[in-house]
Amino acid sequence: MTPRRSFLKSALAVPFLPQQALPRPEDPAYWARVRDQFMLSRDKAFFNTGTIGAMPRVVFEKTVEHLRKMATDVADWDYSGPDWISGYSDVPAIRGKAARLLNCDVKELALTENVTSANSFVASGLDLPEGAEIIMSDQEHVGGTSPWLNAAKRHGGTVTEFQLPKPAHDRAEIVAIVMNAMRPRTRVLFLSHMITAAGAILPVKEICAAARERGVFTVIDGAQAFGHIPVDVKEIGCDAYVGCFHKWMLAPAGEGFLYLRSDRAPGVWSSVASFSWNNHDDNGLRFSQRGTGSMSMMMGLEAALDFHNQIGPQRVQQRIKYLGDYLRAGLRKIPKVKIYSPVDASMCAGITVYGVDGVSGPQLAKEMWDRARLRPRGSSAVAIRHCTHIYNSPEEIDRALGVVRAL
Ligand SMILES: Cc1ncc(COP(=O)(O)O)c(C=O)c1O
Repeated sequence: MTPRRSFLKSALAVPFLPQQALPRPEDPAYWARVRDQFMLSRDKAFFNTGTIGAMPRVVFEKTVEHLRKMATDVADWDYSGPDWISGYSDVPAIRGKAARLLNCDVKELALTENVTSANSFVASGLDLPEGAEIIMSDQEHVGGTSPWLNAAKRHGGTVTEFQLPKPAHDRAEIVAIVMNAMRPRTRVLFLSHMITAAGAILPVKEICAAARERGVFTVIDGAQAFGHIPVDVKEIGCDAYVGCFHKWMLAPAGEGFLYLRSDRAPGVWSSVASFSWNNHDDNGLRFSQRGTGSMSMMMGLEAALDFHNQIGPQRVQQRIKYLGDYLRAGLRKIPKVKIYSPVDASMCAGITVYGVDGVSGPQLAKEMWDRARLRPRGSSAVAIRHCTHIYNSPEEIDRALGVVRAL
């Protein structure tokens, strides 16, 4: 590449952000420029990334650009270059970028529609012996529990829940609870990396090590973790890790993934079978093939991964946590507020669940919207779930604290 072309390439790689030597989670000017990259309307604040992330403009544009190409020029597609649809051929660049973020081999990573389908692929694909026990916490999402209830019913097994404290804030206690729940007939442990309705980050590394010693297959649900906190599947040591790109990674809706350890993957049958159904060299491709899908969404996914990498995973994670800590610090100063997220700061990041004495969760969510156009999620009868991401600011959080104070 000529020096000029290489300069242009690197300039294009950083279209909006100067590369700063010091990533500062509280630098207002820097984060204001990041905020400019979002189409999110400024007359309201979005605090529900735990359900769905807001796409950066570049993600939206890449998606729409491809959709437009499909609508106008599909006649140009002669099968000679990359596919214009997804679901059949590999998308190695995209899988590779996601695999690098998770620290796994690309062949261990499948692109799925969402977390529920990734989890279902494992639950339906494992040969469970009759009477097998699957254990999980009592705080899992329906997309976590249901595939295992279905598998247990089909194979004559059981699903047993163990109770985690609310808030779960003692790592050693959590490890002990999970270890006690494992019995000789336990075959699978399903557990969230970060609990959806509390924001508690669980000590999954220690738990997976204990499960491995007992021959228990571990499936970790990273729906709320990936793009939010560091996720290194090799360090965690799980057998499977399911997650999505459409929450904290800010991709379009309908983008998930399944990591399956290379030595465990051959033992998991294909539930959706296409021509790679028996390909045990690239199990990630086997589980990615699902018939015709939208390449436009894949383009959006790639743009989201690039956007995340451009800012830097660590910087994104630091900013999310900084804002979460800022919110929790403000809440702690207000009487009659109860925080349901962990007390231990190392077990929290961008999800805070809290309530106000005498105000129901749905009422609190409604007050946030009616008084200040703030959109957290009313998560239970007594609390709301308030997520912070890089498009949020301390000023938006101050507005939320103002509503809480007024109530
Ligand atoms: C912990 C957890 N698991 C699974 C899911 C389901 O994810 P999806 O809708 O992508 O299948 C969610 C969604 O909120 C979740 O929070």
